[in-house]
Amino acid sequence: MDAKTEPTAAKPHLPDAQTVTQVTHWTDRLFSFRVTRPQSLRFRSGEFVMIGLLGDTGKPLLRAYSIASPAWDEELEFYSIKVPDGPLTSRLQHIKVGDEIILRPKPVGTLVHDALLPGKRLWFLATGTGLAPFASLMREPETYEKYDSVIMMHTCREVAELEYGRQLVESLKDDPLIGEMVGDKLRYYPTTTREAFHHMGRVTDNLTSGKVFADLGLPAMNRDEDRAMVCGSLAFNVDVKKILEGFGLTEGANSDPQQFVVEKAFVGDGI
Ligand code: FAD
Ligand code: A2P
Repeated sequence: MDAKTEPTAAKPHLPDAQTVTQVTHWTDRLFSFRVTRPQSLRFRSGEFVMIGLLGDTGKPLLRAYSIASPAWDEELEFYSIKVPDGPLTSRLQHIKVGDEIILRPKPVGTLVHDALLPGKRLWFLATGTGLAPFASLMREPETYEKYDSVIMMHTCREVAELEYGRQLVESLKDDPLIGEMVGDKLRYYPTTTREAFHHMGRVTDNLTSGKVFADLGLPAMNRDEDRAMVCGSLAFNVDVKKILEGFGLTEGANSDPQQFVVEKAFVGDGI
């Protein structure tokens, strides 16, 4: 049998398989990708699902991932870290268009509009891949229906790590579906901490010093008008929570809507 007629090994059909439709590498530590959406999957913008690949033992190797695309999108988008020795992402970072991933269609999460009481301004506070749920919520019409202003604060060590978010925000203006609703309601406040940039400093420092309020011409956060959603490392979440509580805001949940909600962008590293 020559090489042309030799049967090719059948591609294993994964349980809950979805097909990769696009992959973009942003830095050596960050990439985003899009996959087909299961027809039956309904989710609220801001929620996460479990995705993964088959592990060496043949069992699914799954991790939590925020859905970065909005609820109305035909496909699903994810924004991912590449952990060099990470069980999943050491392999996931090599996926190509046409490959399959596993996606368990059971969305959950606290970064949803239902978990907040009505307010005037909505703050999205993120570090690193913690931007992912806000990539969804920034493209969600409800975000602009419910609030007069939406402020996206995103901090990374270096400028290149902001690029996915920057391009996304930039694209919103001309988006045929959501562009008009976004208008000038969305205020984008990216900062770096370890490379020179026009705005610098940790989210926490820019809130406590009042710099972000001064730069954007906004009053200091207050319980009556401001709502916040937080997504970053455990240490970031803990520090931001203290600051928001200092402004008089109370943490809420799906079952008990209040003034802010928090979700981990990843597990690990402690406080
Ligand atoms: P793991 O064994 O899971 O992690 C190894 C170590 O890498 C961790 O201990 C931590 O120190 C570090 N690490 C893991 N994830 C990150 C990260 N995102 N940023 C910085 N350091 C990290 N990850 C995403 O990339 N995008 C998402 O949208 C996302 N959403 C999540 C939502 C929730 C609710 C939770 C709990 C986690 C989320 N994660 C997300 C993290 C994700 O579940 C995995 O941890 C990540 O994909 C790495 O998997 P791994 O098996 O390669 O390494
Ligand atoms: P810094 O460079 O000052 O540590 P990382 O890459 O370690 O996940 O961090 C992503 C971004 O989050 C970095 O800009 C980092 O700032 C910032 N950061 C890390 N921990 C905290 C924290 N506890 N509070 C506020 N910002 C934080």
